[in-house]
Amino acid sequence: MRHTTFRQLEIFEAIARHGSFTRAADTLYLTQPTVSMQMRKLTDAVGAPLVEQIGKKIVLTDAGHDLALTAREIFRILDRFEMTVAERQGLARGRLRLVAITTASYFAPRLLGEFSRRYPGIEVSLRVSNREQVLASIAENLDDLYLLGQPPEEIDVVATAFMDNPLVVIAAPDHPLAGTRAISLARLAAEPWLAREEGSGTRKAIERLFAGLGIGIVPRLELGSTEAIKQAVLAGLGISAVSTQALNLHPPGQFAILEAEGFPIVRHWYAVSPSGRTPSPAARAFMDFLLEPR
Ligand code: PGA
Repeated sequence: MRHTTFRQLEIFEAIARHGSFTRAADTLYLTQPTVSMQMRKLTDAVGAPLVEQIGKKIVLTDAGHDLALTAREIFRILDRFEMTVAERQGLARGRLRLVAITTASYFAPRLLGEFSRRYPGIEVSLRVSNREQVLASIAENLDDLYLLGQPPEEIDVVATAFMDNPLVVIAAPDHPLAGTRAISLARLAAEPWLAREEGSGTRKAIERLFAGLGIGIVPRLELGSTEAIKQAVLAGLGISAVSTQALNLHPPGQFAILEAEGFPIVRHWYAVSPSGRTPSPAARAFMDFLLEPR
């Protein structure tokens, strides 16, 4: 069988598929004598008949049946190989357009840097936007992937959780509740709260927790970013809850983390893409990268 060619296997597979030499010749744009000659060579190489003529019909022998399965398997493996090569070439010069919600900017550039070092040929771009703008871009299917803390409910998307996103309550280090254990939500609600803007995923998660106990919080101040929230907390203007990711670069002790009932709120970071969008090889590679344990 070593001298069998892929062409012979392809011809035989076509005969097996169509049950006819003529149709096999037609589909492969070959002449009948070529098909017959290649079949003779293949039969010699196998050392057993592959087809039988019953009336006008071509029927596979047992060996022919096995060879047809084997040929299909070989072609599947070759297809896979071809796809891998194409994908690798794609990764050598692909493009990845990423959008991160503001709070994700505390970790997204670091991940992207690591990814870029692994795939230097992929041109990456990162846009950081507020939730409203992110949702608008998803709806228009403009980018490859969106990183956010709460997948949109109003748009059809594929959302994959890739990292924990716990929310903790922060206060100035000299806050009277610092060091107190099991602070009740009612007590916490009595503090001046600094809230994110309407529509923020962080804000929604905090409101949901309080609403579960029938408690509403009236924010003392509303601020448009986690960074502004942190500055206001440090200035002693009130307390708030932020993603632990937003505290990564701060020295321990700069904020007091209050031990409150219901906190940390367990959340996740999601990579989201509009459903129906076929991911590019670069987007698939980034997704695999995000799901690596870290
Ligand atoms: P946000 O989103 O910046 O809108 O709060 C992040 C999150 O949902 O955690």
